[in-house]
Amino acid sequence: METDVLIIGSGVSGLSCALNLVKKDPNCKVIILDKSLEGECNTRHAQGGLAAVMDPSRDDFFFHYQDTMEAGRYKSFPHVVKYLVENAPSGIQDLSNWGVGFDRDSKGGLVLGLEGGHSQPRIVHYKDCTGSEIHQKLLLQIKQHPNIHLLKGTFTIDLITNDLEEKANQKVCFGAWGVDLTKNEVFRIFSGATVLATGGTGWMFEKTTNPSIATGDGLAMAIRAGARTRDLNHYQFHPTAIHQKKNDRALLITEALRGAGAHIVNYQLERFLFNGDSRGELATRDVVTHLIQEEMQKSGMPNVYLDARHLGKEKLESRFPQVVLNCSQIGLHPAEDLIPIAPAAHYQCGGISVDLNGLSSIAQLYALGECAGTGLHGANRLASNSLIEGVVFAKNVALTILSAQNQTQIIGPTQKENNQIQGKLDRRECPVGIDNLLNQLKTEMSAIMLRSENYQRGVLGAKIMEWKKLVDNAFQKNKFNQKILEIRNLLDVAEKVIDFPLNKNMDVEYHENFQV
Ligand code: SIN
Repeated sequence: METDVLIIGSGVSGLSCALNLVKKDPNCKVIILDKSLEGECNTRHAQGGLAAVMDPSRDDFFFHYQDTMEAGRYKSFPHVVKYLVENAPSGIQDLSNWGVGFDRDSKGGLVLGLEGGHSQPRIVHYKDCTGSEIHQKLLLQIKQHPNIHLLKGTFTIDLITNDLEEKANQKVCFGAWGVDLTKNEVFRIFSGATVLATGGTGWMFEKTTNPSIATGDGLAMAIRAGARTRDLNHYQFHPTAIHQKKNDRALLITEALRGAGAHIVNYQLERFLFNGDSRGELATRDVVTHLIQEEMQKSGMPNVYLDARHLGKEKLESRFPQVVLNCSQIGLHPAEDLIPIAPAAHYQCGGISVDLNGLSSIAQLYALGECAGTGLHGANRLASNSLIEGVVFAKNVALTILSAQNQTQIIGPTQKENNQIQGKLDRRECPVGIDNLLNQLKTEMSAIMLRSENYQRGVLGAKIMEWKKLVDNAFQKNKFNQKILEIRNLLDVAEKVIDFPLNKNMDVEYHENFQV
């Protein structure tokens, strides 16, 4: 197949990029690949909303800028933060134009919520199901456009690039190859531009709020192709996920619930956060997570509690239906019960190094959303800055691709790439042991990144190399087993992550600042 633009991933970033492309050039041919058959993605599960300065009588771009910088511990790139805050309101407008509904008051004005780290209420939302509302409405728009083809159940395995030996100075991406999981067939798509919008890496950890698709596929493909990355040492753990057993998805309780007045308490029902930060429940996520971890360590208990009982049944059911639903999965109701919570892996703050136009260090390769490292989030993302980042930067990517269109190249497969895809179309079960290997990886990465335990880079690096050999062996025998492909990706990402300085107290500027 050939297409003008290939987008890998179908969350808010991928879908809004496609819509921007065809809005500007209705003849532009776009293919979107989605490995999930059910349209699973992180966007769908995003509860909180989108941060934007929508009420200039109370809020200001500078406040949003300042809050983002502070949450990111001043490691964000100032020009990127400035760009995001100034363009966030038009991102909200774009979403409204595509039919996304937001909570409004009786006069039609947006109802703005408050979340941790924000000095003003500025969260545009639809109840506590903002991501799902956006996803559904964007999918409806996509379906209406004849030049956008969304191919579900298609797992992208690797990018097609020139061999560096062939062209010494510039790597170029010409598309991607993968497997159609429904037909068990290999495909190759050559494209003028390729956009990675594959989301995050939550499944590298013991507990995550992410659905099981979050296996770092785009980031791993970019790493294998030689793209630069940045800030991979900064991973965000959400403080209020429902406490669940390890190696499972942890259901999220939105930060907006704390913005509406819910308290975090320990086993003695004390609001202990104020001992560590005067902002209490509305401190930034890194701070709240750290204080909860400390409290759990002190008490020896596996969780603390979120107390929303005083908000009342009516408010909880009308404003927070998803929270009520999530609590019902463990037989609780937030109006009557304390909710057992603990931190869980939530968001990767860094990613594939890109500039303001989403362009990576590989020509014709762009990255968007969670897999991209724009430099916006620094050491810790401000709540509700992610969906809006996807929307704002998707527009830039689309416009950049269209303006570069007559310079882009599409070439045939290289010998290396031809060799790579000679695999067995065999979908046997994942070999015994591979699952166990993933659990070991999760334990190691959670110990380092969440619990800040000491580790020896050399020892872990050697283990990862050993695991990679096992997985590579399985991959060579059985290229198209989804589990093998996902573990292969997580291992490539983990190997890269531990190259960064991971000791939280070590204030080293290691990443390639301002460099794509
Ligand atoms: C939340 O609602 O707490 C999560 C949304 C986000 O990650 O910003």
